[in-house]
Amino acid sequence: MSGDLLQISGLRAGYEKVEVLRGIDINVKRGEKVVILGPSGSGKSTLLKCIPYLVKPWSGEIRINGLVVNPDPAILRRIRASIGFVFQQYNLFPHMTVLRNVALPLELSKGMSRREAERIAQSVLDMLGLGELAGKYPLELSGGQQQRAAIARALAIDPKLLLLDEPTSALDPELRYEVVETLYQVAKQGRAMLIVTHELDFAEAAADRVVFIDEGLIVEEGDAREVLERPKKERTERFLRRLRSRHSG
Ligand SMILES: Nc1ncnc2c1ncn2[C@@H]1O[C@H](COP(=O)(O)OP(=O)(O)OP(=O)(O)O)[C@@H](O)[C@H]1O
Ligand SMILES: [Mg+2]
Repeated sequence: MSGDLLQISGLRAGYEKVEVLRGIDINVKRGEKVVILGPSGSGKSTLLKCIPYLVKPWSGEIRINGLVVNPDPAILRRIRASIGFVFQQYNLFPHMTVLRNVALPLELSKGMSRREAERIAQSVLDMLGLGELAGKYPLELSGGQQQRAAIARALAIDPKLLLLDEPTSALDPELRYEVVETLYQVAKQGRAMLIVTHELDFAEAAADRVVFIDEGLIVEEGDAREVLERPKKERTERFLRRLRSRHSG
């Protein structure tokens, strides 16, 4: 058995009778940054959601730190307390201030007092340059600020593994930049990250590995620069070409 932080083997999953993931194997080492690329509908979000059991796998195995992810409530609590998740649509609670949003997971999953949780939440917000937004409500923030606050919330529990699902895709192009900057900052911290993103510059500069998924299967994976600059599979090449023309056009 390898000592990888995340080990996914033979993962199959879907909705109702429709199979979406058709046998996925991915390992992520401690501190490793892995970017997942793939067309819309290929199963990227489903893959991320299977890791903390938000979508129930049909078969295969997921291990985090050697612990097999399964529906046992005590196991799920431990697993979820070691993972930070940033969803495709930013999803802060609208009726809570940014500070409360970031502090809440610390109270719920780490059992901290409100005072202690808010102290840590403030320090994480400060670290990401969001300290002054602590007392605001999500709707008072720009989309980019909301997504950065969602990243702060995911980081507050000091997760071993950070899952990010297209953190910039819901944003207007001019707001993406600040979120990408935040991603660079987080990537420097030595925490393992599994990121679905089509920000190719980020993938090239910050990722160790790129995994290209299509129709629920891994088409190609390897060193980030290698895959992005010299893809071996025609499908990967075509996908990258389309993505680049969309971004420059
Ligand atoms: N809750 C759900 N119930 C039923 N079908 C779903 C559900 N969520 C996703 N699907 C379907 O599963 C397939 C994979 O969806 P998924 O969201 O994982 O793709 P994706 O690669 O993340 O796409 P995108 O790039 O558009 O976010 C799609 O056909 C989608 O319609
Ligand atoms: Mg998705």
